[in-house]
Amino acid sequence: MPWKRRPYTGRDLSAALNIADLREAARRRVPGFAFEYVEGGAEDEATLRGNREAFAALRFVPPTLVNTEGRSLATELLGAPCGAPLAIAPTGLNGMLHPHGDIALARAAAAFGIPYTLSTVSTTLLEEVAKQAGGRLWMQLYVMRNRAIAEDIMHRAAASGYEALLFTTDANVFGSREWDKRNYRTPGHPRLRAALDTLRHPRWLTQVLLRHGIPSFRNIEAFLPPGAANAVGGSTIIPQMFLPTITWEDIAWVREHWPRKLFIKGVLSVADARRAAELGCDGVVLTNHGGRQLDYCVAPIEVLGEIAAEVGDRLTVLIDSGFRRGTDIAKALALGADAVLVGRAALYGLAAAGEAGVRRALEMLTVELDRVLGQLSCRTVRDLGPHLLRGPGVPPSR
Ligand SMILES: Cc1cc2nc3c(=O)[nH]c(=O)nc-3n(C[C@H](O)[C@H](O)[C@H](O)COP(=O)(O)O)c2cc1C
Repeated sequence: MPWKRRPYTGRDLSAALNIADLREAARRRVPGFAFEYVEGGAEDEATLRGNREAFAALRFVPPTLVNTEGRSLATELLGAPCGAPLAIAPTGLNGMLHPHGDIALARAAAAFGIPYTLSTVSTTLLEEVAKQAGGRLWMQLYVMRNRAIAEDIMHRAAASGYEALLFTTDANVFGSREWDKRNYRTPGHPRLRAALDTLRHPRWLTQVLLRHGIPSFRNIEAFLPPGAANAVGGSTIIPQMFLPTITWEDIAWVREHWPRKLFIKGVLSVADARRAAELGCDGVVLTNHGGRQLDYCVAPIEVLGEIAAEVGDRLTVLIDSGFRRGTDIAKALALGADAVLVGRAALYGLAAAGEAGVRRALEMLTVELDRVLGQLSCRTVRDLGPHLLRGPGVPPSR
């Protein structure tokens, strides 16, 4: 029989070698509908695929014979020390993947000295995350038709010590994730096939569903009609609650209620980045929402170079969408990003093994990034620059 390469399929986290291995472990542990919720992209999933393909077009040109002993990933974000140029991205419904998913993610982030971003539609109260996890916490904001919800989130996050607000601006018109929708008869009500599939995942069934019940959107529960607070009822109502009339004018309103650092999450053009700077924002997150919103959208890494060149001296530039490897992170830092938000890579760890799984995901990414630094003859993340890259959007260097 010819020799065949096989990915690792066991449960030992230390034997999982990369994020793709963790993804397989996640796929096995949670029911198909929960995995599809994490994995899926909008419509033809062209944006989703493009996020990965864009990294393949960028190649390194490594200098050689440089001493790289004593390398460090340590950096600064928003004027405070950071263990690595990373933060965990905001993701809703984490409690569906693991009990107390938000706390597990936040604790793992704290262990690596990096910020955790809690979603407006999290399954844990923001106060609870602050109490139980500590570390550097950022809050993500969705603005819904009832603006009192956003005001409540901002006031509570400020009172609980959250350091920054990531105002998400690319989901006001909700994306259509068709593969996700196919798992439900009507929003929130799984088809028989999807419901039966949960029986093939007894660990998830007992740890998540039987012990803790259907997860709820705890942060905004008080504002939802009866029966709409949990994942079943909320799936129908929440996508219709987003405020489509939101504009740049509303930054002034956000500023009235949020006294600390402010990022716009959803910027993909130089013009919008410039506008964020002119309006006094502290930073931007270049993102296409991990391919879950607009299909056939540019990958953030493709526009990073031009945006960082324009606003990098005035704004903190963060980026996400498709980051799965240390090489991906190194490419973004070389093109001018201050840090990368980790989305699904952390969720695969969470779904596979809770906090230990998230720690393993962060360990993989930081160990890989450290290795790439060394292979690129760099000692710190500040040594990375466009001179180490070739490809589309990379400014020419000698
Ligand atoms: C399951 C899931 C839920 C998400 N929920 C939110 C959210 O509540 N708020 C938000 O601003 N972005 C949300 N995002 C987008 C992430 O913050 C981030 O932009 C994206 O995951 C980055 O792409 P990546 O997953 O390929 O790393 C979500 C993404 C996923 C995968």
